Amino acid sequence: MSGNEKVIVAQGLTKVFNKSLFAVDHISFDVKSGEIFGFLGPNGAGKTTTINMLITILKPTEGEASVLGYDIVKQANEVRKVIGVVPQEYTADEDLTGYENIMLCADLYGIPREIAKKRALELLELVELSQFKDKRVETYSGGMRRRLELACGLINRPRVLFLDEPTLGLDVQTRAATWNYIRRLKEEYGMTVFMTTHYLEEADALCDRVAIIDHGKIVALGTPKELKESLGGDIITISIKENVDVSDLIRSVEHVKDVRNENGFYRVKAEFGEVTAPLIIEALRKNGYTVTRLSLTEPTLNEVYLEYTGRALRDSEESKEAIRMQRLILRRARGG
Ligand SMILES: Nc1ncnc2c1ncn2[C@@H]1O[C@H](COP(=O)(O)OP(=O)(O)O)[C@@H](O)[C@H]1O
Ligand SMILES: [Mg+2]
Repeated sequence: MSGNEKVIVAQGLTKVFNKSLFAVDHISFDVKSGEIFGFLGPNGAGKTTTINMLITILKPTEGEASVLGYDIVKQANEVRKVIGVVPQEYTADEDLTGYENIMLCADLYGIPREIAKKRALELLELVELSQFKDKRVETYSGGMRRRLELACGLINRPRVLFLDEPTLGLDVQTRAATWNYIRRLKEEYGMTVFMTTHYLEEADALCDRVAIIDHGKIVALGTPKELKESLGGDIITISIKENVDVSDLIRSVEHVKDVRNENGFYRVKAEFGEVTAPLIIEALRKNGYTVTRLSLTEPTLNEVYLEYTGRALRDSEESKEAIRMQRLILRRARGG
């Protein structure tokens, strides 16, 4: 499979609820083969609704999309055969063991028992749950549950995997460990992954390309690096020993886009900061100035998010609400 093959293509994809709520509002994007593609946005942005359309459990109101060339409406059955899904809600049965849960997933796909057994053991190995396979899921930590669900999503050997908030509610360390399992799917199996998240660091660390989604619309799309660079570069902070305004001199250096003198500190916006910073030092030195301090900061996805949506994405608050919802769903599902 060529690296440029488009595995998912969406055009004008739209979902309207209750005749007027545009949960997903005319979005277009494509996902290439072997890519980890992320939808980043706050609660209610339309991430789950988008996934649900792509995995054929929700019908679009407008627009179209295909997965591996299969139309999500006209060829929904074909789509289902080639995809794996790990939904946002907890799906594992608490009263069964990890192994039994995976076998249950295999049954849903009609995978013959003998093949299923072999795969289940392989997958438990992949997500490092082999030694806990005969323990009831009730005893699993949040991270272990998520890994088990990942294994379930892989039972039909999908070519494309859909992950809805794969690390929701997990602590930072467990989250980072989960990223490794997802990376391995890409690296060792060449799998294409479409995932959603509202964690900025997750999108940054894990995704090859990120679409920032807000109020059902894609407001920015690119590699994390491109998105950061789209802000117009890095921030270089400089101070010099001499009490002279050197703004114009700094401004004349290549790649410098903006200079502000903030009480003797120069705040410089520049493209290619790691190249430009030495150029600035060189220019100052040539003119007889002594640099006393210099720091280089790259914009984070946080700044990108702020720039495109006009607000910050506060992880903690979003997560608390999401976890509360998660518990509610779980309790309902268990009839509690
Ligand atoms: N079945 C539904 N009926 C009505 N509104 C819905 C339904 N599902 C989602 N929504 C609304 O659509 C918007 C997007 O929701 P969702 O896709 O779940 O967002 P996200 O996954 O990004 O948190 C929200 O305003 C949500 O309340
Ligand atoms: Mg969601």
